[in-house]
Amino acid sequence: MATPLRLAALLLVLVAAFASAARADLVVSRADRKVDLTSHIVRVLTSLKVENAGSEPVSKVLLAFPNIQAKNLAAIRAFGTEGKVKGLSSVLPIEVVEPSGVPPELTFFSASLHKPLQKGKILHLDVLTVFTHFLQPFPEEITQADSQLVVFQDSSHYLSPYPVKVQTLSIRLPGGRVESYTKYGNTKLVDSELKYGPYEDVPPFSYNPIIVHFENNNPFAVAKELIREIEISHWGNVQITEHYNIVHGGARLKGEFSRLDYQSRPYARGVSSFRHLIARLPARAHSIYYRDEIGNISTSHLWSDSKKTQLEIEPRFPLFGGWQTTFTIGYGLPLQDFVFSADGKRFLNITFGSPMEEILIEKLIVKVVLPEGSKDIDVSAPFPTNQWQEVKYSHLDIAGRPVLVLEKPDVIPEHNLHFQVYYKFNNISLLIEPMMLITGFFLLFVACIAYMHTDMSISKNSPSYLAKLQWDEVQATVQQIQGIFHQCLAVHDKLETSLHDLSRTGDAKSCKAARKAADAQFKELAKELKPLLLSVQSSPQSYQIWPKLDDLVAKERELQDKLMARHATVVDSVEKKQRGQDIENWISSQQQKIAALRQEVESLLEYLSEI
Ligand SMILES: *[C@@H]1O[C@H](CO)[C@@H](O)[C@H](O)[C@H]1NC(C)=O
Ligand SMILES: *[C@@H]1O[C@H](CO)[C@@H](O)[C@H](O)[C@H]1NC(C)=O
Repeated sequence: MATPLRLAALLLVLVAAFASAARADLVVSRADRKVDLTSHIVRVLTSLKVENAGSEPVSKVLLAFPNIQAKNLAAIRAFGTEGKVKGLSSVLPIEVVEPSGVPPELTFFSASLHKPLQKGKILHLDVLTVFTHFLQPFPEEITQADSQLVVFQDSSHYLSPYPVKVQTLSIRLPGGRVESYTKYGNTKLVDSELKYGPYEDVPPFSYNPIIVHFENNNPFAVAKELIREIEISHWGNVQITEHYNIVHGGARLKGEFSRLDYQSRPYARGVSSFRHLIARLPARAHSIYYRDEIGNISTSHLWSDSKKTQLEIEPRFPLFGGWQTTFTIGYGLPLQDFVFSADGKRFLNITFGSPMEEILIEKLIVKVVLPEGSKDIDVSAPFPTNQWQEVKYSHLDIAGRPVLVLEKPDVIPEHNLHFQVYYKFNNISLLIEPMMLITGFFLLFVACIAYMHTDMSISKNSPSYLAKLQWDEVQATVQQIQGIFHQCLAVHDKLETSLHDLSRTGDAKSCKAARKAADAQFKELAKELKPLLLSVQSSPQSYQIWPKLDDLVAKERELQDKLMARHATVVDSVEKKQRGQDIENWISSQQQKIAALRQEVESLLEYLSEI
């Protein structure tokens, strides 16, 4: 907390030197700052009334920030109007500048006016700044039952390179407890609004440190990484797939986590955690899904009206400080709402960021997958991004689909603006894949006819004919086996769902009944499986697939055992109302093994379905 004080002292020394060099004779006749601390993303709206008190026209206004704030500045926007009364404002371009003779502890931005401000004229300037990682959790570690407290540090005076005649600062707090705040003359805390000022005739670069320490339990949802894939299909769909890796970025959880405590009194015993995330999707979004590495998650809710579709997702466990989760959401959008054509080119026009509310994305990667054969790719984004191109192959692609990749760090809801990707595409290309299919079918057809003719000509007793019969038989049996395994997987899902229900309702009895039913089903399926396996094993045609099948049986068996064991442990611990860290650890290690096994089983099944 020493930094603002040091900065204040330093600025005092430098004021005199710089003030004279502060070029333009601008005077801020009024500065009102509104700071919004209700979420973990801090927004500051500064309304300035700037007067040209010199004799020369001025075309730039400087904005100053201490470096410690500037490094967390995710967005800055300025809107200006000239005249005595505030009219319709227009956006002013902003750039980082390094005026000569300024202290290195400060970062400067310059807002360029559309036309110079003449002598004696007044400019109304609104500056919106948005900061991430501005609120520091203090203490940095809390227990499950604690509220989260955070610290905000700033100056009660507006840090301005120009003299300020009248100024105020108001800070909106989320409404919980306020531990402490710096009190100067003219400081008031009313409800959850903290006010400093008005202060009059403050010289340039005045910095008067304040510290506010308060409760903030709003979700500190931070995506360490989000990969958004936007795939355009000229057959009528834009498919969006978003892979999230989300962490609770607030005070870390220390000590044990008790799920039982959490379930009995989620509000008191988990007030700093969050359980839901809300995504606002376009109104006409369809085929929406939400899954993680284990499978589909059914506890999501969907509402829609004519303006938007709202998806509320609920991860498998509540997120406490420092906890992470990964999941994927996907949805389709109608092509005609997002892809247009102009001047012989087509273009995609869609929002850049995540549809999740109040989320900070530390690394956002947007991949726009264009149809195969797209050319002359060009992008227009409202802010700088890293860009490169890749190629993606999917079924039937010959040359692959061009992929334009955009990457940006520290993305906040304010970056959820439209961007455009322009490309040239020939409609003939659209016909290539269907033509390939048609040609393919035709060739297959010809081959079949040829084959039938040859087959007719060979004897029904020939070895090749017998081998073919045997192979057909093996294939039919393998199909039946696959069906049984899919039924097993469905039973696995039911077990998972019963655990999830348990976490909401606490009803151990029906959870146990679900396990019993699953056990019976497993036995039943095992009985059906046995003769089929024997038949495949005894066939001379099965030497290639038998090892895979054997592997599948073993893996599924292991998965079954693990699922049942975990299920029993969880239900048991809920019943006995005790849950130690070691049990918690064991369950989460099992969770990982289960997910891995499930993947192996699914890929083996996939392999079998392709024989
Ligand atoms: C998951 O849900 C989606 C959409 O509802 C569905 O298409 C898909 O088949 C489901 N997957 C599994 C493994 O259940
Ligand atoms: C993109 O879409 C937005 C919202 O519909 C619209 O305001 C904007 O003008 C569009 N941009 C272009 C270049 O068409």
